[in-house]
Amino acid sequence: MNLRAVKGMNDILPQEVQRWQQVEAAFRRLAELYGFSEIRTPIVEQTSLFVRSIGEATDVVEKEMYSFQRHDNELTIRPEGTAGAARAYVEHKFFNLEAISRWYYIGPMFRGERPARGRHRQFHQAGAEIYGDPGPVCDADLIAMLIDFYQELGIADLHVLINSLGSKGTRERYRDALLAYLTPLKDRLSEDSQRRLSTNPLRVLDSKAAEDRNICGNAPKILDLLDDEDRRHFDGLQNNLDKLNIKYTVEPRLVRGLDYYTRTLFEIQGSGGELGAQNALCGGGRYDNMVKELGGPAVPAIGFALGIERLLLAMAAKEQPVPATVYLAPLGEQGQAEALVLARELRQRNIRTIVDGRTQKLKTMLHRADASGAQLCAILGDGELERGVVQIKDLKERKQAEVPRDQVVSEIEKTFVEAGLLPLGGGPR
Ligand code: HAM
Repeated sequence: MNLRAVKGMNDILPQEVQRWQQVEAAFRRLAELYGFSEIRTPIVEQTSLFVRSIGEATDVVEKEMYSFQRHDNELTIRPEGTAGAARAYVEHKFFNLEAISRWYYIGPMFRGERPARGRHRQFHQAGAEIYGDPGPVCDADLIAMLIDFYQELGIADLHVLINSLGSKGTRERYRDALLAYLTPLKDRLSEDSQRRLSTNPLRVLDSKAAEDRNICGNAPKILDLLDDEDRRHFDGLQNNLDKLNIKYTVEPRLVRGLDYYTRTLFEIQGSGGELGAQNALCGGGRYDNMVKELGGPAVPAIGFALGIERLLLAMAAKEQPVPATVYLAPLGEQGQAEALVLARELRQRNIRTIVDGRTQKLKTMLHRADASGAQLCAILGDGELERGVVQIKDLKERKQAEVPRDQVVSEIEKTFVEAGLLPLGGGPR
């Protein structure tokens, strides 16, 4: 039997996990700093939630969802986080509890796309949603948070694209205008776009095919169809971004693949590191109609989600330092028992400690100590323990010293503090 992970769904191995934790910690810190609180919604929702909110004619709903039936329910493993957050907002009637809700989330999402670099079937998003604020001040604030986040992780090569889809009605009027322009040119469009023309003509604007791009260059622009209020909103967003010194490009062809958007729409693209063709680091926008469509009152909303896999591709791979670590190498039975006791004493002082339970030749154990990345190795020989001493070997300096058992913890702590690996004084947990 050849059991492998499902295609497009990857293991995140221990040697990679530190970078994930770094990204997640940075996102949490920044989201909290910007006034957001975490929400955790189920990974499985009713299929109808996604169909209604994301839109029937989108690629996600048409062909990418992992849906199944269980106990007479039609269920789907979430392809994104916005629909579930909005469902929770309505279900728990947050509109009665607070004027504005600011939520963030981090978690796996599932879409049956064709796997490629930066495109997976299980991928991870960090996202944020704001309910109850019509913008455009919070729209700019949200984009500022993203810029701060990417900069904190050393990703400077960012390209912010913005557009406005207007409020209800504008999108439909634009769809008609686009259809009127594209239909006579249908034969010159790519095969994919010809198909999309009848289901979701806005998606033709997203096409990367050269023949489509040429034609779309002259297509009517949605910005020309905005009403006065939509236009004021979009101008407001731009003025606020200018004030924040955030560079952006107005991209009237930016439509994005989900049907729920209204007014503000944005995407941040990257170009650094190993990021290839999948260069959309994050995307978001306003979805002022969703809360009402899901059974709540008319509450405006905006949010974004960023792909963690793509972010890691864009981030320069940095060597992660091993935290201050002691490797305990007991050489006999007495040493083994003593190693367990010493390990607990060290961990109580917040020092990472690994106990090697496989008593073997000292040389073999030192090899394993080196491979673990530990800086110090404490060798607990039975004879030495009878004399009340332990050998401490500095694995980097290749120096060894005999230390009385009752001074081992303070000696190790001192060495780490001097090497700058522990804050002064170490300290109990
Ligand atoms: P989205 O543009 O579909 O938006 O996804 C957001 C980000 O998730 C993308 O920019 C990309 O970085 C990452 N991503 C999407 N699909 C994949 C994939 N198959 N593999 C790897 N990464 C992927 C949303 O999901 C909306 N819910 C964003 C939002 C929140 N809008 C309002 N609130």
